[in-house]
Amino acid sequence: MIIDGKQAASDLRIALAEEVSSFKKSKGITPNLTVVLVGDDPASHVYVRNKVKQTIEVGMISNEIRLPASASQAELLSQLTFLNSDNAVHGILVQLPLPSHIDEAVVIGAINPEKDVDGFHAMNSGRLLNGEADALVPCTPQGCIILAKQHLGDDLSGKHAVVIGRSNIVGKPVALLFLQENCTVTVAHSHTKNLADVCLQADILVAAVGRAEFVKAGWVKKGATVIDVGINRLVDESTGKARLVGDVDYAAVSEVCGAITPVPGGVGPMTIACLLRNTLEAAKRYG
Ligand code: GUN
Repeated sequence: MIIDGKQAASDLRIALAEEVSSFKKSKGITPNLTVVLVGDDPASHVYVRNKVKQTIEVGMISNEIRLPASASQAELLSQLTFLNSDNAVHGILVQLPLPSHIDEAVVIGAINPEKDVDGFHAMNSGRLLNGEADALVPCTPQGCIILAKQHLGDDLSGKHAVVIGRSNIVGKPVALLFLQENCTVTVAHSHTKNLADVCLQADILVAAVGRAEFVKAGWVKKGATVIDVGINRLVDESTGKARLVGDVDYAAVSEVCGAITPVPGGVGPMTIACLLRNTLEAAKRYG
C-alpha cells in the first residue's frame, strides 16, 4: 500500500484553513509566518515560494525577508531581534542552509522559542525531550508520525520503530516522537553494525540518511511500514535526466513492506503542512 502524503497534507491544510478562519473570527488575529531567506540558493527559493503560497492559501499572513548572500551574521541577528519583538509576527523561519560565514547554531538560538515554528531552538528540543506539551515540534518528524498513524491507526504502542539517521532536524526528534507513542525505538546511524539485521526488526522503518536508494528489500520485514524521508536527485545514465528518489529502494521494498511513503509525494508535502500547523499553534498561544 502506498501512503499518500500529498493527500494527507492537503487534508491537513483544509482542516487548518477552517481553524484559522474560526481563530480569526473569535480572536481578531491573523497568524503571521515570516520567512527569512539569505542568499540565492535555488532549492531554498523553491521551498520558500511553496511556503509562501501555502501560508496564504490557509488564510495566514506570509512575510518574506530577503537578505543578500553577503549579509553579515550581525545583520541577520538584528532582523531576528526586530521580528522577535514584533507582536504581529507569530512564526519565524530562517531558511537553511545559510551562507558558510554565518553560524547556523547561533542564528537558531537567537529566534524567540515561542516563535520557532521549525522547532529547532534548544528550548523546543529540550521540551520535546522532556515530553512537555508546549514544545514546538520539528515539522518533518511530525509528518512522519501522521503518515505512520494513517496506515497503522492511532495506537503505535509496542511497535518497534527503527530510525536510520540521527540528525537534529529529523532523526533525533522523530525517535523521541515514536518514544512518546510508546514504541520501542532504535536509532541506527553510520557506525551501526549489522544495519540490515537491525532494520529487519522494524515494524516501522524510518529512513533519514540522505543517500539515494540506500535501504534494500532484504532489510525490510514483511508487512513493515516504511517512512522514507530522503529527497535525492539521481541522474538517469541512459536518458541524462534527473529524477527525485528517496533513501529507500522503492520498487524492490514495495514488494515486501506493508506500506510505504513514495518520493516525491510522501513525507515532503507534510513538512510545510506541519509548519502551518505550528504557526497556528504559536499564534493561538500568543492570542
Ligand atoms: N531547508 C530545508 N528544509 C528546511 C526546513 O524544514 N526548515 C528550514 N528552516 N530550512 C530548511
